[in-house]
Amino acid sequence: MSTLTQAGYNSIKYKTPTGNQLNCKGWIQEAALRMLLNNLNPEVAERPDDLIVYGGRGKAARNFEALDNIIKALKVLENDESLLIQSGKPVGILKTHKDAPRVLISNSQLVPNWANWQHFDELEKKGLMMYGQMTAGSWIYIGSQGIVQGTYETYSAIANKHFSSNVKSQSSNDLFATPFTSQGQGTLKGTLNVTAGLGGMGGAQPLAITMNEGVALIAEVEQWRIQKRIETKYLDLWFENIDEAIDRALEAKQNGEAISIGVLTNAVCLLERLIERKIVPDTLTDQTSAHDPLVGYVPHTMNNTQASLMREENPQQYLELAYQSMYRHVELMVELQSRGAITFDYGNNLRARAHEYQQRNLSNVKSETSNNSHVSRFTSHDSQLDCFSFPGFVPAYIRPLFCEGKGPFRWAALSGDPNDIYITDKLIANMFPENEGLQRWLRLAKTRIAFQGLPARICWLGQGEREQAGLAFNELVRNGTISAPIVIGRDHLDTGSVASPNRETESMLDGSDAVADWPILNALVNTAGGASWVSLHHGGGVGMGYSIHAGMVIVADGTDDAEQRLKRVLRNDPGMGVIRHADAGYTEAQEAAKANDLNLTDRLK
Ligand SMILES: NC(=O)c1ccc[n+]([C@@H]2O[C@H](COP(=O)([O-])OP(=O)(O)OC[C@H]3O[C@@H](n4cnc5c(N)ncnc54)[C@H](O)[C@@H]3O)[C@@H](O)[C@H]2O)c1
Repeated sequence: MSTLTQAGYNSIKYKTPTGNQLNCKGWIQEAALRMLLNNLNPEVAERPDDLIVYGGRGKAARNFEALDNIIKALKVLENDESLLIQSGKPVGILKTHKDAPRVLISNSQLVPNWANWQHFDELEKKGLMMYGQMTAGSWIYIGSQGIVQGTYETYSAIANKHFSSNVKSQSSNDLFATPFTSQGQGTLKGTLNVTAGLGGMGGAQPLAITMNEGVALIAEVEQWRIQKRIETKYLDLWFENIDEAIDRALEAKQNGEAISIGVLTNAVCLLERLIERKIVPDTLTDQTSAHDPLVGYVPHTMNNTQASLMREENPQQYLELAYQSMYRHVELMVELQSRGAITFDYGNNLRARAHEYQQRNLSNVKSETSNNSHVSRFTSHDSQLDCFSFPGFVPAYIRPLFCEGKGPFRWAALSGDPNDIYITDKLIANMFPENEGLQRWLRLAKTRIAFQGLPARICWLGQGEREQAGLAFNELVRNGTISAPIVIGRDHLDTGSVASPNRETESMLDGSDAVADWPILNALVNTAGGASWVSLHHGGGVGMGYSIHAGMVIVADGTDDAEQRLKRVLRNDPGMGVIRHADAGYTEAQEAAKANDLNLTDRLK
């Protein structure tokens, strides 16, 4: 039986506890309970009735029975025990010690030769596995804010790199007075930015683009997703008619308006129409759930109702049509790139899907290479479409930040009180006054990001900074300035926690893209250091067979024990990223390793 349809979400039974009274035997267990339920809060999750949090079918628990048992287990879990979660189901409680993680999670792991969607789907149907995505199955998703900042940062880097001669808006208020990154003064003002997908992560795109002063034109096939983004003020307008949407976007570009426009259509149809009308966007990307061809991508040859029916009745045919459509999608992106659009992959593995299709259907490339897009992309026949013509966003824009141990640090107030987050905002702003980008983000976030579920904040902090922030939060809890503990975590898309050759580790300097020892070491070191819960996942972001990644969460509950754990974990976790990039030969990372006492050679002298 499919695990996707079960009893349904009960908003009373699964309400996230708030305040400072414990339901569990310690704050760490309590934090895990609250964050699990927060992940499934309808304000936060995309489809709570299916336990789906975001990213195609990224789930927080395998089924409702497993969810109920996790809740019960967290309530009985002692302060010297660890709960084991196997692909969203609790399977045991074992004796450990007070500094060990209270929860150890492994999601969607398959032995490499079986690591594909076909095998996963069979296991999922039998109820033996669930897809954990990244923060869904590791209980630290905080809604679209989690991705707004990363997306904002990416578009800001694009503006700095490609549009630094654009004149900044005279009418911009103080919020726009400084660039987010230190590298330039770019703005997307007067640019047309085309993309697709308004889901859990993709829904952040319109806001991130307008925060950078650009025009966003976004295709989405499901009306309820568009409506949700309009209601939460992430999206400004929407049209059913493609031409009307394009015309409004062109008018906004002409006037230098910062506006986001959704269009109820398939990504392929929007790009085909742009080409027919000889319109070249300034930037072009995509955030449909192409990582999951069966559940996440709707072919342009059918509507949603037909798609839902065919998925159930004839999944093989559905997959064939989805792959055909993804190939066409990439073909159109490459065409627009050749006409001048700055085109990049935004972490959904669309390029690899097109490449897989090409290899099965169009290529004379030998099938031995077909499983490994990183190797085979360079062996494609000259006359074929090069599906990897455009780069991924990490090598293009983000890697220099990873080299300094910078990544998406996030925290949530377990009290449920927004004021606790405003206090932490002030603290962070005071701690890093020289970081203009951070200051600007905190001001923007406060005015433009609505909290979803437990109040939370995200910002990119690097080596040394995360440790400082965590210890300062612990002090706020210790001295009673905030009303309950703070939970600190991060995305798996981070500096030292992931091996994903089409995304975070694409085009590494030393060719170590597919080496997955790093995320394993990351999970091990965070377990050894005493993180509150640690997770190791497979397939997040880009789908089965394409990534291995680790997550960690740590609770600042104001105790001396927490202080020691925070010192270790928040130094070691980004430190893994610095070490990983230094080892791959990046000079910035080698310098960061030396500056932060992470250089092994210095230690061995
Ligand atoms: N760049 C990043 O940092 C990052 C981070 C996390 C996840 N991702 C990846 O981004 C993708 C999107 O994530 P999400 O959480 O928004 O997923 P989601 O499943 O919540 O949303 C995907 C959206 O795409 C729409 N869609 C599907 N096919 C379409 C098509 N052909 N044309 C137009 N719309 C279509 C769906 O209706 C849905 O609204 C995933 O592949 C995810 O793994 C990227």
